[in-house]
Amino acid sequence: MLKKEMELALNEQINAELFSSYLYLSMENYFQSQSLSGFASWMRCQVQEEMFHGMKFYDFVNERGGSVALEAIAKPDNQWNSPLDAFEHVLSHEQKVTGLVNDLVEIALGVKDYATNIFLQWFVTEQVEEEASVGAIVDKLRLIGNDSSGLFLLDAELGKRVFTPPQDG
Ligand code: FEO
Repeated sequence: MLKKEMELALNEQINAELFSSYLYLSMENYFQSQSLSGFASWMRCQVQEEMFHGMKFYDFVNERGGSVALEAIAKPDNQWNSPLDAFEHVLSHEQKVTGLVNDLVEIALGVKDYATNIFLQWFVTEQVEEEASVGAIVDKLRLIGNDSSGLFLLDAELGKRVFTPPQDG
């Protein structure tokens, strides 16, 4: 059985993951408007991945006998100055999510909820991977600068991404 403090925090994380999905959907729309279909496709994978994260928390709360309480999802930004501006936003957002996951671990350990702590370790590892992959794209965009041929090459590379739900998830 989940303690109330843990249940509340996990519900807040469901909302944070669904907001992430919504934010990346807004970014997909931005990239579509810029005719960068590879970037847009990469964002669609990100939308699906964040929905998967949200559902993973959702299922866990139910599995532990808690109550899921869905709240309103905030309106995401919808304009960015450049692909680099958008991806810097992704990186700062993922760093914020990493902080939220770390806070959840602190709460789990504080209330001696070791099962939730083990569940959360998957997300601790996932955030390392998310920050690394997004950070690499930010680095490439900084190298590309105003070189449109470099941007089109990166667009083609990002368009190859496919979302497959993790088998261990
Ligand atoms: Fe669900 Fe991108 O962290």
